[in-house]
Amino acid sequence: ASKNTPESLHKYEVKISTLPKENGWSSMMTLRSYQHFWFHSFFLKGAMHAQDHFQAQPGDIFLCNFMKTGCTWLKALSFSIITRTHFDDSNTPIRNALPHDCIPMLEFGEYYSPTGPKIPLYGSHIPYTCLPKSIIHSRCKIVYLCRDPKDTFVSMWHYFKRMVETNKTGKEVSFVSIEEAIDLFCRGVSSFGPYWDHVLGYWKASLEHPERILFLRYEAMKEETESCVKKLAEFFGCPFSLEEERGGKIEEIIELCSFESLSNLEVNKSGKQVKKDGYMENSAYFRKGKVGDWRNYLSDEMGNRLDNIMEDKLTGSGFSF
Ligand code: A3P
Repeated sequence: ASKNTPESLHKYEVKISTLPKENGWSSMMTLRSYQHFWFHSFFLKGAMHAQDHFQAQPGDIFLCNFMKTGCTWLKALSFSIITRTHFDDSNTPIRNALPHDCIPMLEFGEYYSPTGPKIPLYGSHIPYTCLPKSIIHSRCKIVYLCRDPKDTFVSMWHYFKRMVETNKTGKEVSFVSIEEAIDLFCRGVSSFGPYWDHVLGYWKASLEHPERILFLRYEAMKEETESCVKKLAEFFGCPFSLEEERGGKIEEIIELCSFESLSNLEVNKSGKQVKKDGYMENSAYFRKGKVGDWRNYLSDEMGNRLDNIMEDKLTGSGFSF
């Protein structure tokens, strides 16, 4: 694939500057409207480049989600499942690298794994209808992970607040209050929003192509982690053998990838993820990892408003939160 470099991205920057914009959640994070979704420029440049240049291989597998629905966890589990014959529990790269650094991100132009062996996994937040066509034409497998919209929103608000605070350069930088942010979120104005359309795109595709698209929920992964891990392994084409099951391989992977274990690894406590437009502390990917934490930040009224909007938008799809 053609490499994603500052030069190759320049023409997209020019195009992006002409797209409809919203100031979004912070003066540092302008959102642009492209193909019916809102994108931050730094993600959109890479997404456009991927649309033009990314060549998927038939065996590639994409781990897709809206932001903050648990892809750090999904990446750790998927990487561990797929590489379990390369590494054992003591030498897996998961112990020394943030899961995001073990699996390339499609829209960051990382078309190969920066650490470890070449594995067929990619991460992406790109909506289904905006994915590079070669992913669809090559009949690649996709795992989509969604999460209760209220917890997703609360997680996102904290994440971006931290990102803005981390990358402030002295000048006045604004960040929205949680009340303003939920209003924007309910209007669909958020990174990769509207959330309902993001979910619907993958949901409908999963109904059409159940053999290629596995649709998961964060809450189910928390409740039935073992059955989700088995499902993932089967979907990836590397089911656990009886011997592996009896030997405790599944439990070992679940334990390694648990919130407690990952968040206590040195790399995730003190490491940094250097991005093209700033950096983020690895610990920002491990906040609480709980279901229902929204209650600590949103009133019932705010929660109901978001639930009602989601319900309304998802009506008739066969999917509900
Ligand atoms: P909270 O902010 O609610 O704690 P993403 O990985 O898509 O960026 O989503 C981040 C959310 O997943 C955060 O939610 C984070 O704490 C949670 N998370 C990270 N690692 C996890 C794990 N191993 N198990 C469960 N949740 C995890």
